[in-house]
Amino acid sequence: MYRTHTCGQLRIENVNEEVCLSGWVQKIRNLGAMTFIDLRDRYGITQLVVEESACEEIKEQAGQLGREFVIQVKGKVVERSSKNNKIPTGDIEILITELHVLNHSEIPPFTIEDNTDGGDEIRMKYRYLDLRRSMVRKNLELRHRMAHLVRNYLDGQQFMEVETPVLIKSTPEGARDFVVPSRMNQGQFYALPQSPQTFKQLLMVAGFDRYYQIVKCFRDEDLRADRQPEFTQIDCEMSFVERDDVLNIFEGMIRHLFKELRGIELPELPRMSWQDAMEYYGCDKPDIRFGMRFVDLSGIAKNKEFAVFNGSEYIGAICAPGCAAYTRKQLDELTEFVKRPQVGAKGLVYVKYNEDGTLKSSVDKFYDENDLKSWAAACDAKPGDLMLILCGPKNKTLPQLCDLRLEMGEQLGLRDKNVFKPLWVVDFPLLEWDEETQRFYAMHHPFTSPNPEDIDMMESNPGAVRANAYDMVINGVEVGGGSIRIHDTELQQRMFRCLGFTPEQAEKQFGFLLNAFKYGAPPHGGIAFGFDRLVSMFAGLDSIRDTIAFPKNNSGRDVMIDSPSEISEEQFKELGIGLTR
Ligand code: AMO
Repeated sequence: MYRTHTCGQLRIENVNEEVCLSGWVQKIRNLGAMTFIDLRDRYGITQLVVEESACEEIKEQAGQLGREFVIQVKGKVVERSSKNNKIPTGDIEILITELHVLNHSEIPPFTIEDNTDGGDEIRMKYRYLDLRRSMVRKNLELRHRMAHLVRNYLDGQQFMEVETPVLIKSTPEGARDFVVPSRMNQGQFYALPQSPQTFKQLLMVAGFDRYYQIVKCFRDEDLRADRQPEFTQIDCEMSFVERDDVLNIFEGMIRHLFKELRGIELPELPRMSWQDAMEYYGCDKPDIRFGMRFVDLSGIAKNKEFAVFNGSEYIGAICAPGCAAYTRKQLDELTEFVKRPQVGAKGLVYVKYNEDGTLKSSVDKFYDENDLKSWAAACDAKPGDLMLILCGPKNKTLPQLCDLRLEMGEQLGLRDKNVFKPLWVVDFPLLEWDEETQRFYAMHHPFTSPNPEDIDMMESNPGAVRANAYDMVINGVEVGGGSIRIHDTELQQRMFRCLGFTPEQAEKQFGFLLNAFKYGAPPHGGIAFGFDRLVSMFAGLDSIRDTIAFPKNNSGRDVMIDSPSEISEEQFKELGIGLTR
């Protein structure tokens, strides 16, 4: 038997018991007469002691131990004289009576402790060592627990987990596909699924009614902190439902997670139209932990000789509470912030609403106190507040103001990671115009149903058609998105026409789905959550990387296994795809 207990298990109640533990040597402190060893496993750390009175053999063995050696010890649990209240086993230690080295270890390339000296690259290269660190392990434990809670919840709602294939044909989610050459069908390629979208819809045609799957998805897109080339979705679909049925079920799921994991009873989630999200927050994933909604000053700020405002389509303001005392330097820094290429504004106008009620702005030359007062009234500004104003074409200025708002939220400490403000963003546009290719694209995907009230406009004014689509957003992160689907072949064909598909192209790419719809497709809809994003939200992480056991780096590489990598000439030949080298 390798162990009677784990390294996180023993307490003061166990004093005097003879126990056996196995684990990794985290730390050795040799104090001359005595040696202390921290023994670690997945469950915790237990302090071991080699006493002065221990037999020579044990002393010798202990003297030869190094970090990360795997050992087994037997001994007696005793109460510690100096207790460590930072760890659950801190009241006790084990007096070693037997020590076996189960395996040696080379000196690890970085210290395996919470405050490690290892940089990103080295930790990724030795990810299996990084995973021994409790803070990384905890994220995976949380991930496991969340998956369990999700399965329990969905099982309780009659959802059935069904696996869908990984070697498929392109799914249109808007990113590039990863492709896999087929040896048996030379010159032909599978695609890895960007999501199981079409399969889950086929499962609805098959009558499965409530499907879910915690599933890997693959997208060849530029990486960011919240994006990995392979990531996991909680993918769901339901039949005989309308939008609110879907929202209610999945609001329930999120509520379940918050209650079980954080003890938080969420209120009913607010719903915001896409239009309002853009108008008041400048993006489709508003962080509503704080206010500072945009105020449109276009109607009242073009009445003087200020050419910049007069020539702008849109003039938008946010009101930063309590910031009227910002110094010249702080304001210059904010101006620099909005002028960075990533934000792209030309400049920043400010108005200080001083505590004494006076108003001072960077455009005093053009506007008098009354003008500024009217702006302050529009912004609902109070003495002590600072108004920050950007102007320009509306579609450019809104996202710039969004960046500025988030920056101010950050500066003012209003984006607390322990505060959660989820909401639904609804009524997305069905289609999105692309200047470059001069055509419409589906904003969500081509199977999303238009809002029934807008169907008549599909041909005459496609850009104005709203979709029956929704996203769940938490603290400025899109954690999930879905829609009610088109279940009628004719409407689906109309949608393909709007997207510029010829009937032949639609048939070639989606014939299987259009065909299936001919055999009694039920009304259906669904949603998929970004599981990694949800875990990182609950773990308070800035990146989804540490929610994944073996993630890719920012260039999409796994530096541990060194992938992607070249393949041999034989493999090329076998696949019939020709040599590129
Ligand atoms: P969508 O493309 O919105 O919808 O994806 C659903 C959710 O998946 C997460 N996500 C990602 N997470 C990490 N890395 C990525 N590269 C990545 N891309 C997306 C996001 C997103 O909200 N089939 C539809 C869903 C449906 O209509 O039911 C779909 O995949 O959190």
